[in-house]
Formats: sequence, C-alpha cells, structure tokens
Amino acid sequence: MFRGSGKAESALIVDIVTIFPQMVEPALAEGVIGRARAKGVVDVRARDLRAYTSDKHRVVDDVAFGGGPGMVMKPEPLFRAIEEISVERGAPTAVILTTPQGRPFSHAEAVRFSRMERLIIICGRYEGIDERVAEALVTDEISIGDYVLTGGELPALVVVDAVVRLVPGVVGDDASVAADSFADGLLDYPHYTRPAEFKGMKVPDILLSGHHAEIARWRREQQLRRTEERRPDLLRRHELNKESTS
Ligand code: ADE
Repeated sequence: MFRGSGKAESALIVDIVTIFPQMVEPALAEGVIGRARAKGVVDVRARDLRAYTSDKHRVVDDVAFGGGPGMVMKPEPLFRAIEEISVERGAPTAVILTTPQGRPFSHAEAVRFSRMERLIIICGRYEGIDERVAEALVTDEISIGDYVLTGGELPALVVVDAVVRLVPGVVGDDASVAADSFADGLLDYPHYTRPAEFKGMKVPDILLSGHHAEIARWRREQQLRRTEERRPDLLRRHELNKESTS
C-alpha cells in the first residue's frame, strides 16, 4: 500500500491529519518549531481530513455500531489520507494516533520518534476512530496524560514539539538538549540570571563563585533533591538504571 519516494531532504517529515488544521498551523509557525521549519531542517504540515472525503458534505464521522452516545471517525477518509500522504511523502516510519487509550508519551518515546524519517500523526476526535484504522494503519497509540481532552490536536502538537526539538540542528545548543529534565531521568536544577539580588532574594552564592566543579556538584544535588521531593517515581527508576549499567 505504501509507495513513494526515498529519503527526504528534511531530517524529519511530519504530517498531522486533523479536522482542525487552523488549530494546529499557528502553533507550528512560532518559536523553535517555526524556525526549524523555515530552515528546512524539519517539514511539518497540517492536513485537513475533510480534503480526503469523497461526498458532497465532506463527512468524517458517523454513529457507532451497537449504539451509544457520540460519533465515531469514519475509516474511509483516514485510509485515503494515509495512502495519499504515503504516496506523496514516502512510506511513514510510524503512524501515531493521539488518544487517551494510548501508552503514555515520554522523553524516551520522543527520542525514538526523533530518530525516524517520516511520521504521520492522526488527531482523534469525537468518541474515537473506527478500530479498523487503528488495527490496519496505526503503529503507535499515544496518550499525553491521564485526562481527556476534546480532541487529539493539542496532544499532536505536544508530540511534535517534544520530538522536533530533539532533531539535530533544531536547538542551537546540543548541550542544552542533553541537560534537559528527563534526558538522564532526573528533573532539572534551578536556574538564575541577573540581577544577583532581586527584591531581597539572592542567587545562591555558589553560582557566583566561579568554581565550576562545585557548581556542577551543587546542581547535581539540586536535581536529586527536586526529583526526590516532586517525582520519587523517577528517582527510583534513575537508581535502578544506574545499578543495571554499573
Ligand atoms: N485525546 C483526548 N485526550 C487525549 C490525551 N490525554 N492524550 C492523547 N490524545 C487525547
């Protein structure tokens, strides 16, 4: 089913299939993602699902077999969208569906997707999508958290943002990506900038000392303390990882 060209020019191609392209496009035009697109490092596009319908009213949903409230996204426009995008762009490396039923999105998932060439993200809407789409086309069902949003557009943007910033050349300073919260399984340390004193609140002396080794040690302690206080689950995992790699 998947046909098309070989390797793309951009490091990463992402197509976001949505019934609300106007909700997605402005977010893609700003900031780091907007600059990466303008430079051609990544090629991220919103695709209007209704463009892949073949009826006069461009219907994308229908009632659920078996009854029950809410509408279900029809299979035909989604199959056609994936097929046509695959022909145009080349076969996708992953087809992601944003849904509260998915496995939790994480830094590790973001790293995995950032190493791929072509992603298609389907934004779920209504009560869900016809299960045949999930079975036949979707490779990864992803949830961004244990809460229900009105649709998968914001989760798709969350995934794109987290993934694109990891693509080499997108964030100028690779060290800043490597030092992220979660990159080594811990939360980030506190940051300060000038002035050294503001409304009676002082920047910790150690950061003004110029002792790089001590600053590094202080930051590590802060990371461990914060993670212990706020995310003990992460700290346990971090310690288990350390044990298994030492
Ligand atoms: N669609 C609605 N809620 C969602 C969530 N929490 N994650 C991903 N997709 C969703």
